Amino acid sequence: MFYRPIQIGSLSLDGNLFLAPVAGYTDRAFRSICVEQGANFTFTELVSSEALVRNPLLYRADSLNSSKMNILRRADNETRYCIQLFGANPNTMFKAAAMLEPCRPSAVDINAGCPVPKVTKTGAGAALMKTPALLGRIVESVVRASEAFLGGVPVTVKIRSGWDSDSLNYAITARIAVEAGASMISLHPRTRAQVYTGKSDWRLITDLVSCIGAPVAGSGDLYSPQDAERMFRETGCATLMFARGAMGNPFIFAETRAFLTGAMWTAPSITERLETGFRQLVLLTQDIGERIACREMRKQFCAYTKGAEHGAEMRNYLTHAETIDDYRKILDGGCLFKLV
Ligand SMILES: Cc1cc2nc3c(=O)[nH]c(=O)nc-3n(C[C@H](O)[C@H](O)[C@H](O)COP(=O)(O)O)c2cc1C
Repeated sequence: MFYRPIQIGSLSLDGNLFLAPVAGYTDRAFRSICVEQGANFTFTELVSSEALVRNPLLYRADSLNSSKMNILRRADNETRYCIQLFGANPNTMFKAAAMLEPCRPSAVDINAGCPVPKVTKTGAGAALMKTPALLGRIVESVVRASEAFLGGVPVTVKIRSGWDSDSLNYAITARIAVEAGASMISLHPRTRAQVYTGKSDWRLITDLVSCIGAPVAGSGDLYSPQDAERMFRETGCATLMFARGAMGNPFIFAETRAFLTGAMWTAPSITERLETGFRQLVLLTQDIGERIACREMRKQFCAYTKGAEHGAEMRNYLTHAETIDDYRKILDGGCLFKLV
C-alpha cells in the first residue's frame, strides 16, 4: 500500500524508495550498489554550478578519468538518476543544467538545503530559504534549460524547514518553487541552524503534503523499514529518501520494499555484506583509482562491518587499508578475519 509507483512530472518510476543526495557518499559506485539492492531512484551529491561552468573541460563526458566527471556520470545499472546542482545565480544554473546534456539525467534537483557555510555564504544551498523569490527564478531557469537541452526532464527542489527556528518558511518556499515549475519537493525538516542534530520534525512533511499539489519526498531520520513505514503513514508523503540509514547498509532498500509489501526477506549474512562492500570498492577503484578509492572506502567499509565478529579489530585494520589487497586480506577465506 505504501510502496507504489510514482510520477514526477514526465518521469515515471516503478517505486518510491529513493537514495538521497549525500556528499562524499552517493558516488557512482555506491549508487550502483543501491540500485542493485532496489533503490528506485538515486541522487548524485550536490555539484557546484559555478565550478561546472568555469571548468567545463573537467566535466566533459569523455573525461572518463576525471573525478569531477565521475560525480555526474550515471552508473551502468542506473536507468534513472537525478543530478543535484547548487548555485545562487539563475544564469549560471541555466548554463550548468544545459551542460548536463551528455549525462542524460532523468531529473535535475536544485539544492536549497545545504547548511555548509562555504555554500550558504554564496547565497546557495539553505541560504535560498532566505530568498525564495530567487529560488523561484533559479527553478524557472533550470526548467528552461531542461526543456531546451535535456528533453524536458523534471526539475525538483530539496529544501529544509527554514533557515532557523524563527523562519520556518518551507511551505511558502515550496509553493514558489512549484509555481516556478518544480515537479517534486524533497523536505528535510530540520532548519539550517540544526544542521544534522536533533530530530527531524516529520509534522512539517505532513503539513507540506497538505498544502502543495506536487509530490513530496520525505527525508530525515530514516534508519529502518519501520521508520519508512511510519513516515509514509504519518505524513502521507509520496516518496521518501534514505540518507545516513543507507550508508554501509544499501540492503535497506530491499528490506524496506519487502517490509512494505509483506514479501519474504532474508537478511544478508555478514559475508554477503562484506562482499557487497568489497564490490563497491572495486567499482570505485574503476572510477577514481585504487589509492584514492581505498582511502575513500574506509569510512563506508567500517559501516559494512557492523555486527561482524571481530568487527572492532577489522575496523582498526581498515583505517590503514591502502590497497585492494589489504581489503582482500581482511575479507579473505570467507570473511575469516586474518589481516597479517
Ligand atoms: C554527510 C552528509 C552529506 C549530505 N550531502 C547532501 C547533498 O549533497 N545534497 C543534499 O541535498 N542533501 C545532503 N545531505 C542531506 C541528506 O540528503 C538528508 O536530507 C539528511 O541527511 C537527512 O536524512 P537522514 O537523517 O535520514 O540522514 C547530506 C547529509 C549528510 C549527513
